[in-house]
Amino acid sequence: MPLEFIKKLLDAMALYKLNVFHWHLTDDQGWRLEIKKYPRLTEVGAWRSGTRIGHEYGGAGYDDAKHSGGIEGAFDNLRYGGFYTQDQAREIVAYAQALHITVVPEIELPGHAQAAIAAYPELGNTGVQLEVCRHWGVIKHVFNPSEQTLQFLEDVFAEVISIFPSTYIHVGGDECPKDEWKASEFAQARIKALGLKDEEELQSHFIRRMDAFLHARGRRLIGWDEILEGGLSPNATVHSWRGEAGGIQAAKAGHDVVMAPNIPIYLDYYQSADIKNEPQGIGGCNTLEHVYAYEPIPVALTELEAKHVLGSQTQLWTEYVSTTEHAEYMLFPRLCAFSEVVWSPRDRRDFGHFRDRLEDHRDRLKVQGLNYRLLDPK
Ligand code: ACM
Repeated sequence: MPLEFIKKLLDAMALYKLNVFHWHLTDDQGWRLEIKKYPRLTEVGAWRSGTRIGHEYGGAGYDDAKHSGGIEGAFDNLRYGGFYTQDQAREIVAYAQALHITVVPEIELPGHAQAAIAAYPELGNTGVQLEVCRHWGVIKHVFNPSEQTLQFLEDVFAEVISIFPSTYIHVGGDECPKDEWKASEFAQARIKALGLKDEEELQSHFIRRMDAFLHARGRRLIGWDEILEGGLSPNATVHSWRGEAGGIQAAKAGHDVVMAPNIPIYLDYYQSADIKNEPQGIGGCNTLEHVYAYEPIPVALTELEAKHVLGSQTQLWTEYVSTTEHAEYMLFPRLCAFSEVVWSPRDRRDFGHFRDRLEDHRDRLKVQGLNYRLLDPK
């Protein structure tokens, strides 16, 4: 996404009193941040040779021509990519800081790493030269657990913390298939040598190393809720996305959490059940009313445990969102609903009232030049 668009979003975030911008900078399909020690991350890892046309899984629910681009195996074969230089990232950090917004960078490990492995095959488990991934989903190619790979990650985080002053540094941790580690003699030997029980504990080994590295530098690690699976690292904050369960478990264990359940607050999900009249999305259905009904403090937590909820966060993943107009359409007005949810006590929230106010508020979105979805009729 263009730098100017990120600034426009930060302006909107400031208006809605959203004070943390989580920047997902690496994934299987692209590495988007310049790392000086490892230039191939952006020379190679920031570019892919094509992109899946249509939906990865054939677009369940689509049957008309408008939405049926997702024929298995179809790619556009167009070179696609780009990255932010460290100077550009610093420019975003400064712009956000002036608006009282903290930028939390995310570097994914040990999964969602194919772009990095394409750039440096020695980071992978098979030695096979991979391409930067051209399609979407949960990808089986993940980092190998060697000391060299952990050192690479520490080097990357050393540069990341020199760019981003945020206390919290996000290490991903989600959706790491264990197939390659199960099949790898090296990974199995590492599990034995480190005295670990299984592949889940090997994943936690990665997280513990990054936790120690960040902690020693006065930073705090945050990761998606899968980081609970092989035992939670001592200083980790948990970002609960697969519903509330991970956040509840972590808060009860005395860890800080950020609540970001996919249902009902992922903004890449459809905002209407009538998906034929919506631009293609990943799936799901989180309407404006669903978002507005969200309660950020899980009822399962006691008042004391609830103190571990640092806040709530909503996500917009963009594999099916290729333009800024579409991104804005997905964000607005649901982001307005989210803001009101996190800034208002429960007994002051009334969807009908909110909806009536939103009719006028749309003029403010217009003035900001933001695209938005029209309200459903009452
Ligand atoms: C996620 O949506 N995979 C964090």
